[in-house]
Amino acid sequence: MGITGGRAYQSRRNPALHSGAVDAQPRRGRFLTLEGPEGAGKTVLGQRLATALVAAGQAVVLTREPGGTRLGERLRTILLEGGGRIDPRADALLFNAARAQLVGEIIRPALAAGQVVLCARFADSTLAYQGYGEGLPLPELRTLAEVATGGLTPDRTFLLDLDPEIGLKRKGRADQTRFEANFDLDFHRRVRAGFLELAAAEPERFRVIDASRDVLAVFADLLLAAKEVA
Ligand code: TMP
Repeated sequence: MGITGGRAYQSRRNPALHSGAVDAQPRRGRFLTLEGPEGAGKTVLGQRLATALVAAGQAVVLTREPGGTRLGERLRTILLEGGGRIDPRADALLFNAARAQLVGEIIRPALAAGQVVLCARFADSTLAYQGYGEGLPLPELRTLAEVATGGLTPDRTFLLDLDPEIGLKRKGRADQTRFEANFDLDFHRRVRAGFLELAAAEPERFRVIDASRDVLAVFADLLLAAKEVA
């Protein structure tokens, strides 16, 4: 897939970096995340959004979870390949280990430099998959994420929402991960409902976008929503 860890799309004219402002402190960048069930189009839409923001003069770092760093990509292989069952708590810890590395190595430095960080999946995915999906208590997962991220939360989260039955059909066999192969439709329905519950609880952070439509329509909404913050 086209997303590479910490790949920076540098614009020539980034107001945050070249404002010449007297203020010696660089403006904190914006942290945007894309979330959603399987097959929602996060990869393609993330790439398109990054390209559009760069064209608008932003410096953008496009990354993904699990992954985005050397350690994270190695953990991704372990977490997503098929094979033996992984205990849900081990899942939660490993996803958060990858997250801690990504935050420390890529996300915090980029935000400190005033860049826009666009990340496909973040801590909400652990709440949705290991919490609502696998049944781990949400308060424990929130504490774990707090430790892993040092309390970093996205400025805006775009939830690409769609019926998992449609999403799972969209994904080719080659793209199938352990989560499609080992978990049934009910699991993925709980994940979707979980995401929607998270979004309803934090309407100021989330924007819910209907991802069942064609990619151009979804992208148009995503771009509008991103321009509110980036
Ligand atoms: P994706 O990159 O295709 O979205 O695959 C990542 C898979 O990992 C997806 O099935 C969701 C799952 N996942 C979790 O279960 N918990 C997490 O915290 C994250 C980041 C992903």
